[in-house]
Amino acid sequence: MSGTRQPKWLDDAIFYEIYPQSFCDSNGDGIGDFNGIISKLDYIKELGCNAIWMNPCFESPFGDAGYDVSDFYQAAPRYGTNEDLKRLFEEAHKRGIHVLLDLVAGHTSTKHKWFIESMKAEKNEYTDRYIWTDCVWEEPEGYASLRGISDRDGSCVVNFFSHQPALNYGFYKPDSSKKWQQSMDDEGPQATLAELKNIMSFWLSMGCDGFRVDMAGSLVKLDEDGKGTIKLWQNIRAFLDATYPEAVLISEWGEPDKSLEGGFHMDFLLHFGPSHYNDLFRCEEPFFSNRGKGDASAFVQKYVENYQKTNGKGLICIPSGNHDMDRLARSLQGDNLKIAFAFLLSMPGAPFIYYGDEIGMRFVENLTSVEGGYSRTGSRSPMQWDSSTNAGFSSAPKDKLYIPQDASADRPTVEAQQKDPKSLYHEVQKLIQIRQAHPALQNKGKIEFVYVKEHAYPLAYVRSVGDERVLVIANPSDHACSFPCEFLPQEIIYAFGGEIQIANGIANMPALSVAWISIG
Ligand code: GLC
Ligand code: CA
Repeated sequence: MSGTRQPKWLDDAIFYEIYPQSFCDSNGDGIGDFNGIISKLDYIKELGCNAIWMNPCFESPFGDAGYDVSDFYQAAPRYGTNEDLKRLFEEAHKRGIHVLLDLVAGHTSTKHKWFIESMKAEKNEYTDRYIWTDCVWEEPEGYASLRGISDRDGSCVVNFFSHQPALNYGFYKPDSSKKWQQSMDDEGPQATLAELKNIMSFWLSMGCDGFRVDMAGSLVKLDEDGKGTIKLWQNIRAFLDATYPEAVLISEWGEPDKSLEGGFHMDFLLHFGPSHYNDLFRCEEPFFSNRGKGDASAFVQKYVENYQKTNGKGLICIPSGNHDMDRLARSLQGDNLKIAFAFLLSMPGAPFIYYGDEIGMRFVENLTSVEGGYSRTGSRSPMQWDSSTNAGFSSAPKDKLYIPQDASADRPTVEAQQKDPKSLYHEVQKLIQIRQAHPALQNKGKIEFVYVKEHAYPLAYVRSVGDERVLVIANPSDHACSFPCEFLPQEIIYAFGGEIQIANGIANMPALSVAWISIG
């Protein structure tokens, strides 16, 4: 297990994910921007978040909402200038907020000048920046490819959409019968790696605090066990340790045993892959729904496996949602959202709150895809701030907004929820305050599950650090339940939804309730 040093601020980091185009529009063009974000930093701080992950904000033709970068060194003009972004870092830092940018390390847009050069038949500096077969009739086995678009004779590997050609970091074990498969140590892959380091240095020197790395596990090809990709990231970590030791790396990988080995500080549990994350919030019968027909046991089993594989580091982030998955409020409503947050904010690893989830923003149904969003578009609608025009997001005419907003009369807004002491906003704020007052509940505190049964409620676990132990019991179902519990409650530090009773070795939980209890 790698001994990656954790910058201190990660111990109690609580992230707020900002989708820049949908957060706050300062100049009335219908698209969010840096100055808009700066104007809302106090809001983020007041909520209790002390870190931001911002989705890609670089020059791009926006075929995948910015995950198709055309210049890694230039902020997208629609968001502002590099100077504005630098000011965003400075203003965030003044408020004790750290900022991670989104590093799309695995691919670029087809409009990137490297790719345009790489498509040329004549050999040049960028010929090997991407992965091309050496004949257009040969497709790269196991990978999607782009063909027939260049004078260069070959098919080019793509990572995601067809307009996202894969950067060349080499193959873990190149097939010697396929000359075009380069090894990680070849010149082309080494040049790509050097350029990636330049990009990181560029933004770190401007004041960003690190990166959320897009598809971090995908860089080296034919690398089933991730060994090559782990090695690549270890190389990058060593470079950062020598130059920007405080730089934080969080991966979109979904396999914490691999990513943490590669030097990442934390990894996400994802809505795809083997994590069973969806069992909790996003399936037909989510565990956190009031119907009480869910099952958290497979999730816990996977979580514990990962936890053990990462040496009890537990640096696994469970997001409330993100720009790729359905809004939490699509499957959970009312008290269940509060109970879900009481879970999210009492788990190890840094919590990530997707903008608007703190007010229960809804998934906007039946939208036409925007910028490659497709089914994800409904989770990317503009933030709802108040009761003014366009919910305070933008002064642009309604039809100019980046994505149409939730049109319901009762759509949640920050303003309304701040006025209502019983709102989700206030519950989330309170949960954050309590988490931050109890190290056992924070990112590095240990976890031990004490009650989890197939298709049964509640879910209970103990978080601990040093002498402090906090028992968490969550019953999102609409019926009362109980479990054998020998713990001696000292103080209820948070409770929602009725009185919990622990006596004679049994804990009784009312319907729709959750509690965080200090135990001896
Ligand atoms: C990641 C991003 C997603 C993007 C994809 C390709 O999964 O979160 O939004 O489309 O990578 O870059
Ligand atoms: Ca704008």
